[in-house]
Amino acid sequence: MKLIAAADRGWSIGNKGSLLVRIPGDQRMFRQETMGKTIVYGRKTLETFPLAQPLDGRRNVILSRDTGRTVRGAEVVHSLEEALDLLRDVPEDEIYIIGGETVYRQFLPYCDTAIVTRIDYEYEADAFLPDLDADPDWTLASESDEMTFFDVPYTFCTYVRTGGGCRRDERVQTED
Ligand SMILES: NC(=O)c1ccc[n+]([C@@H]2O[C@H](COP(=O)([O-])OP(=O)(O)OC[C@H]3O[C@@H](n4cnc5c(N)ncnc54)[C@H](OP(=O)(O)O)[C@@H]3O)[C@@H](O)[C@H]2O)c1
Repeated sequence: MKLIAAADRGWSIGNKGSLLVRIPGDQRMFRQETMGKTIVYGRKTLETFPLAQPLDGRRNVILSRDTGRTVRGAEVVHSLEEALDLLRDVPEDEIYIIGGETVYRQFLPYCDTAIVTRIDYEYEADAFLPDLDADPDWTLASESDEMTFFDVPYTFCTYVRTGGGCRRDERVQTED
């Protein structure tokens, strides 16, 4: 599975239920990367989308503990295990974990690639991604040339897992 996120200098990703900043070049990259694929995200991230609607052209899998919740155009799952079960037959590289913090943390052990837009600025924040530069299981494999949004520099970084992690069927099998 792949994680895709935009994080600032301190690995912050959001504040008060919103993104830190909307960078058009980053949004284009996100759309191109995820189009036609399966995206997995939390109920609070759904609320950050236009009209709180699922994203078009992609299979949307939303996590919520509310068993009564239905979302038109999306599949709602109620636990990590249910999500992993639903995704069992989807090829690894077609699954994108798109946030927010709680969902990134739960799925990180199952991800082998992280596409992170690194924004060289420090925003006020209350949601964070684990620092992959400080994690010995992750290695920065590539980084784009620097781009700027107004005066804020950013790059597209690809991290790959070089240790640790678990197979996505491990937890499901353990429970069988
Ligand atoms: N920079 C980025 O790339 C990026 C990307 C996405 C989001 N964000 C930001 O991240 C912040 C939101 O993150 P967040 O951690 O507060 O929220 P979140 O992960 O988007 O959603 C949390 C919700 O997901 C559901 N959930 C999570 N784990 C679950 C599980 N194991 N089983 C069932 N349901 C589960 C619960 O929904 P219920 O409450 O309905 O039970 C929970 O309240 C926002 O500021 C957003 O803008 C940033």
